[in-house]
Amino acid sequence: MTIEPINKKEKLFPTYSGNNDSLLTLLNKTSEILCKWFSEADNLGPLPVDINFECSLPDEFGISSDILFSEIENLIYSSFNPVHPGSLAHLDPPPLVISILGDLIAAGLNNNLLAHELSPSISLLEEGICKWFSKKIGFKDSAGGIAASGGTLSNLNALVAARNYSGLASDPNAVFLTSEDAHSSFIKCTQIMGLEKNNLIKVKTDNNGCMDMIDLKKTIEKCTSEGKRIFSIVATVGTTVRGAIDPIKNISEICKERNIWLHIDGSIGGIFAITKLQIKGINNFNSANSLTINPQKILGITKTSSILLMSNMEVLKNTFATGLPYVSSENNYLNRGELGIQGSRPAEIIKLWLGLRFLGMKGIEDVLSSSIERREFLENNLNSEKYEICSGPLHLISFIPKGMKKHESDKWTLNKRNTLLNNNIMVSRPIFKNRYYLRAVLGNYNTSKLHIKELLKLLD
Ligand SMILES: Cc1ncc(COP(=O)(O)O)c(C=O)c1O
Repeated sequence: MTIEPINKKEKLFPTYSGNNDSLLTLLNKTSEILCKWFSEADNLGPLPVDINFECSLPDEFGISSDILFSEIENLIYSSFNPVHPGSLAHLDPPPLVISILGDLIAAGLNNNLLAHELSPSISLLEEGICKWFSKKIGFKDSAGGIAASGGTLSNLNALVAARNYSGLASDPNAVFLTSEDAHSSFIKCTQIMGLEKNNLIKVKTDNNGCMDMIDLKKTIEKCTSEGKRIFSIVATVGTTVRGAIDPIKNISEICKERNIWLHIDGSIGGIFAITKLQIKGINNFNSANSLTINPQKILGITKTSSILLMSNMEVLKNTFATGLPYVSSENNYLNRGELGIQGSRPAEIIKLWLGLRFLGMKGIEDVLSSSIERREFLENNLNSEKYEICSGPLHLISFIPKGMKKHESDKWTLNKRNTLLNNNIMVSRPIFKNRYYLRAVLGNYNTSKLHIKELLKLLD
């Protein structure tokens, strides 16, 4: 490829006077390529057949946008396509259209949620949206939240705050409890927080994949007798493999009795708590001290979109505020970079705000309930005599054939995943209870009953 010096007519930055026609041309062209790719998803499938992508590296001279566009096109056409109705593998739904605009606006504004003076309107927007969520789940006025780039970071923000609040920040005997089916981000939390693996204590789950209360009580007693000090119990609302919901009410009673911080990892199911939808187990969210919600996982807000809600915002401030000596804090506005681990932060809240405004409560409920209907349809049509089915009240379902030895079912899941993929249906193959399962995540609004019927046909 010839590398030519950058075209002088192409602007490096938006111009501050006159017009920005060249930027507009680039934006239009990008939109065209992207929309074409969406429209062709039906033919292309969820994953590109041949990944024809080579990473071209920066050279001495910059290249013109014409060459860049051919590279952009190649990048796009070598990507996973969440818009395809057969994209059922992960918690990565199609992007809500208005959310795409949100990302564009955030990039164009290039504001920084680190400081109020670098994002005057968006800092207020973030505060307002987090307060709105807090109110919806029944928190009091002291509540609020902070956006973070993904559920892992929200969980980490919560646990660092919980440990700090409990006064155990430098205690090597400080432990936290999750169910055995909780997300692997909690293992990362121990690594980042300077804890050993055994400072994360796993509580057994029952047959439905929910935290077992008898084992929780036993575990707490064991911790006490061993001199371990519990700084948080984490309840999961929507486990990653089957979408199980831990019993919030029972766990919160135990936490209250013993003055233990309750964190809810609602990365998958937390969003349901702001709606009127009746989902078994979605209740008592306001008994938590902190709660992670990830609208990127099911509503279609583009990645990343996660918020951590706190029943008392003072705890975040007391944990993370260091002062920002290089930023002015006139009018006593809070610099939101002092409320979490991240410093500079993008304006991710814009796409969440736009998405929520665009959908309204009815639209949100429609997107969420349609996911559950699709899971129910798949579950009701899977032969329960033939398959061991692991699911819950949300939109995830995992299964393997009954009566097979481990090596047989591992092989079966591999073959079936490939067969499905060859027919443009992409499911995942998580390891669960020491075996591979097939997992379908039914959060894709483009998936119809016909597509699910096709999946069922290919399984048999
Ligand atoms: C239950 C649960 N919690 C946390 C996470 C981590 O979220 P993220 O990938 O946004 O960091 C996931 C990811 O799938 C999850 O399933």
